[in-house]
Amino acid sequence: MTKHILVVSYSQSGQLYAIKDSILEPLYGEETVQIHEKVIKPVEPFPFPWNFITFMDTFPESVYLDPCAIEPIKDEGIEYDLVIFTYQVWFLSPSLPATAFLKSEFAKQRLKNTPVITVIGCRNMWIMAQEKVKGMLEKLGAKLIDNIVLVDQGSSLATFITTPRWMMTGKKDRLWGIFPPAGVSPREIKNARRFGEAIKRGLKSGAKPDEPLCRGLGAVEVDVRLIKSEQIATKSFRIWGKLIRKLGKRGEMKRKPVVMLYVLFLLLIIVTVVPINMVVQMVLRTLNKEQFRRKKEQYEQPSGSGRERVKEFLDE
Ligand SMILES: Cc1cc2nc3c(=O)[nH]c(=O)nc-3n(C[C@H](O)[C@H](O)[C@H](O)COP(=O)(O)O)c2cc1C
Repeated sequence: MTKHILVVSYSQSGQLYAIKDSILEPLYGEETVQIHEKVIKPVEPFPFPWNFITFMDTFPESVYLDPCAIEPIKDEGIEYDLVIFTYQVWFLSPSLPATAFLKSEFAKQRLKNTPVITVIGCRNMWIMAQEKVKGMLEKLGAKLIDNIVLVDQGSSLATFITTPRWMMTGKKDRLWGIFPPAGVSPREIKNARRFGEAIKRGLKSGAKPDEPLCRGLGAVEVDVRLIKSEQIATKSFRIWGKLIRKLGKRGEMKRKPVVMLYVLFLLLIIVTVVPINMVVQMVLRTLNKEQFRRKKEQYEQPSGSGRERVKEFLDE
């Protein structure tokens, strides 16, 4: 019997489309699988590359999951066997188009009682965003069975420079001979086909999948050093975001001075509090190893970070 897979995506640079295509490659051309692709289309497109103030001005709505307007998604009345929902992270939250999809009428109608695989392509801070997505999926009555995360290449310090540079200028190339190109490495994107292969095998078993299909494939890896930073930054985004939202709507001139004030505040925090906090966190992680191990495992659910099946799917 034919399996119907809904694949939802939105990408500014095309990176998330490349990740999606790599995952879907083993599934394209499968006789028993029919892929239904939907692209989220914001009514007012977001700029790419971004200018700095517009970029920062999207944080309050992103954090408060206040969706942007999107074009209605055509519902063909299909009962999907699986949904692959790809999204990028904006300010530790799902991007505004991704949130708009999860809050759409279409999602309300079509995601209920349906297994969902989330696929994230982002810099490296996705934990809080995925917690928010989990909450929205739960509200829809959908069942999250896997989470696949691909992050930008290079250290946190390198991507702190290369990702914003890419977002603001569109430039992805190596920088100053020391920083790698921006974005997810092409090799990682190519190797994402292993997930499609695992999904293809998993779907052969008949019923709608209920358990993870991508376990043992290195689908996610939580960096414990980032857990606390994400939690602290989310709090700060919420406090300032609440204030900025009171001043006006996204894009309105009157909230821009406060957005800029927040940027100055962030810079001040980055050069003063962040280094001290890094040391404190390092000590806390050493003292509470077990607690952090449990947190890591929890945030890596449902797919886990094990890689024991990778060899079966790739010749690495
Ligand atoms: C407004 C904005 C905010 C972002 N915030 C984050 C973030 O909090 N964490 C993260 O890992 N990446 C963040 N990114 C990077 C994106 O998740 C993603 O990697 C990048 O936008 C490329 O996605 P694309 O497929 O839409 O081109 C942000 C990007 C934008 C444009």
